[in-house]
Amino acid sequence: MRTQVAIIGGGPSGLLLSQLLHTRGIDSVVLERQTKAYVLQRIRAGVLEQGLLDLMTEAGVGERVYREGFAHDGTLLSYGDEMFRIDFTEHTDKPVMVYGQTEVTRDLYEAREATDGRLVFQVSDVEIVGADTDSPKVQYTVDGARQTLACDYVAGCDGFHGVSRKTIPETLRKDYEKVYPFGWLGVLSRTPPVHHELIYANSERGFALCSMRNEALSRYYIQCRLDDRPEDWSDQAFWDELRRRIPGEQAARLVTGPSIEKSIAPLRSFVTEPMRWGRLFLCGDAAHIVPPTGAKGLNTAASDVHYLYTGLRQVYEEGDAEGLDRYSERALARVWKTERFSWWFSTLMHRFPDQTEFEYKIQLAEIEFLRTNKAAQAAMAQNYVGLPY
Ligand code: FAD
Ligand code: PHB
Repeated sequence: MRTQVAIIGGGPSGLLLSQLLHTRGIDSVVLERQTKAYVLQRIRAGVLEQGLLDLMTEAGVGERVYREGFAHDGTLLSYGDEMFRIDFTEHTDKPVMVYGQTEVTRDLYEAREATDGRLVFQVSDVEIVGADTDSPKVQYTVDGARQTLACDYVAGCDGFHGVSRKTIPETLRKDYEKVYPFGWLGVLSRTPPVHHELIYANSERGFALCSMRNEALSRYYIQCRLDDRPEDWSDQAFWDELRRRIPGEQAARLVTGPSIEKSIAPLRSFVTEPMRWGRLFLCGDAAHIVPPTGAKGLNTAASDVHYLYTGLRQVYEEGDAEGLDRYSERALARVWKTERFSWWFSTLMHRFPDQTEFEYKIQLAEIEFLRTNKAAQAAMAQNYVGLPY
């Protein structure tokens, strides 16, 4: 089999890239380790930046998100019983859109299938061969048979645990990592959200986040220990703990119900450099991870897709390799800024196990500064709605 761009990973990065390339007549094949059903049931991000919405529109999947998504032009921050709002429209010209990653993925799968996109599910033992030559290949096993896909370029969109990053020799690559000493326990429930905007809560008992998917579906998170397991947390224990971490007025009006999903995600900051080796280009979680506090994971994957798509278009349409040659540099310049924001916001809002009383006081002072200082609010708003590509 042959294609122009072999895409490893059928998550949002791989699907979006594939569909964008299709709009320009550039052929790709997506190789996904899991089944489609498995990819679609993974509950992940919920807040989309304008840049991602624009890419979805360009890919021809921008219709449902504007119809069913919820534009938010502010977010709330609380500490103890105090709560204040960061107004996005006061400081930027953009809202964010609340629309689940599962829906983005569903829209992209439907579009790829409607346009006869080549997607291969349940592939195993994926191997990238000759990435540093002019004729790279991807070998994989499907239905017990070994296959070879010849291509011009390989897009490594296979997430943090994929094979693409590890294909770049260790001597040529540098990893930067910070692991946080806690995780997030997330619950999805068929209940109305406690508030019409998101609430990021700093409390003495640890961080909490009140988010949503729509008027009838809520997504809540609480900071938990790294050795906690979802089954250790009954629904009742989760709701009790959430109530203790959000302002009393919100706690009193929280509607609870059975959880329909409960999972724990560890928090990590991670970047690998460079994001390119020969004809292999890393995209999204394959190259970097952010803690979810700033809602930047999916959105940063989208900005990588933008730079890679632009580079591929230039090479196929104009014979100009400049965009591909500068892909890693351009993507990383933005990645590091979102890493900084996600690290800052995580550090501001969580309880660290070894945190001293002094450090807690400093945290509160910074939150109060943010509450009253327009310049600090503007910086937060600009980062939250998404830095320009
Ligand atoms: P992925 O979504 O990881 O997709 C990679 C795909 O590659 C997967 O489908 C995987 O099955 C496939 N794959 C892996 N290895 C191989 C292989 N060897 N061969 C073929 N296919 C392979 N971000 C937020 O902003 N907010 C959140 O609340 C949030 N919650 C998250 C919770 C969890 C548990 C995780 C893991 C991430 C979360 N994120 C969140 C981050 C966000 O979901 C990711 O940034 C986003 O999914 C990145 O998309 P991607 O396509 O680059 O990677
Ligand atoms: C979510 O709704 O899942 C969500 C929202 C905002 C975040 C993280 C997760 O910062």
